Amino acid sequence: MSLARRHACIGLLLIVAVWCFIFARSGVSLEGNVTDDTGPVAGARVGWQGECRRVTTDSAGRFFLPASPGGKRLIASKPGYRIAAGSSDSLRLAPLPREDNLDYAWIEPHPDPVQINNCANCHDEIYQQWRGSAHGRSASNPRFLHLFAGTDGKSLPRQTWNARAEHPDGSAVCASCHAPTLASPTLEYDVREAQGVARSGVHCDFCHKVADVPPGKFGTRFGRDAVRLLRPRDGVSLTFGPLDDAVRPGETFAYSPLYKESRYCASCHEGIVFGAHAYGTYSEWLASPARAQGKHCQSCHMAPTGKMNNIAPGKGGIVRDPRTLASHDMPGGRIDLLRESLRMDVGTSTSTKGKQVAVEIVAQRVGHRVPTGFVDRHLLLVVQAWDEQGKAVALVDGPRLPKKAGRWSGIAGALYAKQLFGPAGEGPIPFWLHVAKIEDTRLHAERPDRRVFLFSPSARRVSVQLWYRRFWQEVADPRGWTDYEFLVAERKAAWR
Ligand code: HEC
Ligand code: HEC
Ligand code: HEC
Ligand code: HEC
Ligand code: HEC
Repeated sequence: MSLARRHACIGLLLIVAVWCFIFARSGVSLEGNVTDDTGPVAGARVGWQGECRRVTTDSAGRFFLPASPGGKRLIASKPGYRIAAGSSDSLRLAPLPREDNLDYAWIEPHPDPVQINNCANCHDEIYQQWRGSAHGRSASNPRFLHLFAGTDGKSLPRQTWNARAEHPDGSAVCASCHAPTLASPTLEYDVREAQGVARSGVHCDFCHKVADVPPGKFGTRFGRDAVRLLRPRDGVSLTFGPLDDAVRPGETFAYSPLYKESRYCASCHEGIVFGAHAYGTYSEWLASPARAQGKHCQSCHMAPTGKMNNIAPGKGGIVRDPRTLASHDMPGGRIDLLRESLRMDVGTSTSTKGKQVAVEIVAQRVGHRVPTGFVDRHLLLVVQAWDEQGKAVALVDGPRLPKKAGRWSGIAGALYAKQLFGPAGEGPIPFWLHVAKIEDTRLHAERPDRRVFLFSPSARRVSVQLWYRRFWQEVADPRGWTDYEFLVAERKAAWR
């Protein structure tokens, strides 16, 4: 045998030995079966609680699983059933209720030693995240209530930008996304009057009773009307979630992969409201590069903190890989995120006609247009040039900001906004009025936007700023709101 051949032989033997070793260690050591009331269940996921490995039952309901890494519970799940747990090799799946219980009493999120089922009693960390998020304030947010009904302590002379005054029978529509569990026997749906758990807005129990968000009706059905809820009968509890191995005595859970999909969020983040496409984040995501990369809303907005490793410490929760536990922080149009995601480059040059400024803006690592969300959010590019004496220099050629830019109206710059116009071309108007035309100039993800400005030859210095506004200035000013805008990026340059 040649040396080369002998080496090849030894190599092969080694590979076989290693393979045998691995096989022996991970050897099939548990054989079991999964059943329901009617017999064996095929296609159920089986594994050890807290471990990532799962096997699927065969047509006879059987499974083969490597031995437990030590004292763990055996769990099984399948869509349409509650999660089953046990210590023996045979697990029984209980089906989900067939019908939603319309008389169900929603459970409060807040801590309360008397109300033992309140979520925060056991899920403190998640509760703190949620409480600080926009979801935790969606029914009590003073800005929302002000545009909903003109309330936050100040009265305005005119009843404009006031949904209840301008669209009196439209309150139920606002409530369906902002206060989805608000019951209104009089059909008034006045969110200001929300009491008890309804006042907690988009709360834990509502979100975790969502059994499905049926596709096909996005935008035309929204909020409470876009989701299929499955609330249990008295005395039983049932909670939906992304974990296929959650266990708590006295409680049942249902594993739902939907909780990791954008479709889940589409129920409230897509809305053609009173005929106007006011909320379009989900459809923007459908067309985004992020979607093509397999990133859902949760990938960015519920990314794990990397620190939380137990969702119910001391209350029956087990230690889990922190990379598998989502955060309920839900950051949105925050200064840090906007700064991270918006890149602005500025170049200056001199020509025979004057001093030129070229600005390029790119939105990166976003899953939709920028800005997105509430339709009035906008970005303003503001370009100002000065001469040797510090006197403002005229723009010779290039875009200028429109009147709705407020204090920057007429100045060199650009507006990135989804602008709503009324029948006479007036705007900005609120989305609950008759919207005759929409002009959308917002940034597309990963698609650079380039603007060129030409100033007169006397220009020496230039400042380029990018501002973010949550509301139009003409809406914010009369209401005394001052913290509705912030500077995202600023560049300064000079010509010689
Ligand atoms: C807007 C709807 C929404 C609200 C409100 C909400 N959740 Fe969730 N929750 C989700 C989604 C979606 C996931 C799955 C995220 C993922 O896995 O990427 C989740 C995951 C979880 C999990 C699994 C562990 C984890 O962190 O991944 C627990 C436990 C949980 N939520 C509890 C709560 C509690 C308690 C509250 C209230 C304090 C709450 N949720 C509020 C939608 C919501
Ligand atoms: C008495 C303590 C307790 C209370 C109260 C409680 N939970 Fe839990 N919850 C747990 C435990 C324990 C687990 C399982 C933890 C584990 O497996 O690591 C859990 C798991 C969960 C999960 C994960 C389910 C899955 O399959 O992904 C969700 C979601 C959840 N709880 C939501 C809620 C909500 C919403 C409320 C309030 C309506 C609530 N919990 C109230 C103790 C509690
Ligand atoms: C039941 C309706 C509902 C569902 C479901 C829902 N949201 Fe929201 N979301 C809202 C409302 C209403 C607000 C605005 C509250 C406010 O600002 O007063 C909001 C606000 C937000 C914000 C904050 C924006 C900011 O500027 O701070 C983010 C981010 C967000 N949602 C992401 C998500 C994601 C991701 C999901 C899916 C996991 C989701 N939402 C599911 C209704 C919902
Ligand atoms: C690739 C990451 C990524 C994905 C995927 C993503 N987002 Fe965002 N989102 C961001 C970043 C970054 C911001 C902050 C910059 C901005 O405001 O656009 C943001 C902002 C937001 C805002 C706040 C907008 C504002 O100005 O008030 C909302 C609401 C929102 N996202 C909802 C969603 C929803 C719903 C989905 C899924 C349909 C989603 N996002 C998918 C990264 C992402
Ligand atoms: C399709 C669901 C949906 C409906 C219907 C809806 N909203 Fe919203 N609303 C949202 C979401 C989601 C956000 C958060 C987007 C963001 O932060 O950018 C929001 C944000 C807002 C904000 C911004 C709050 C702030 O502090 O920045 C106001 C104001 C508002 N909505 C008013 C209304 C009014 C008034 C109505 C009824 C005429 C209404 N909304 C109907 C989903 C909805």
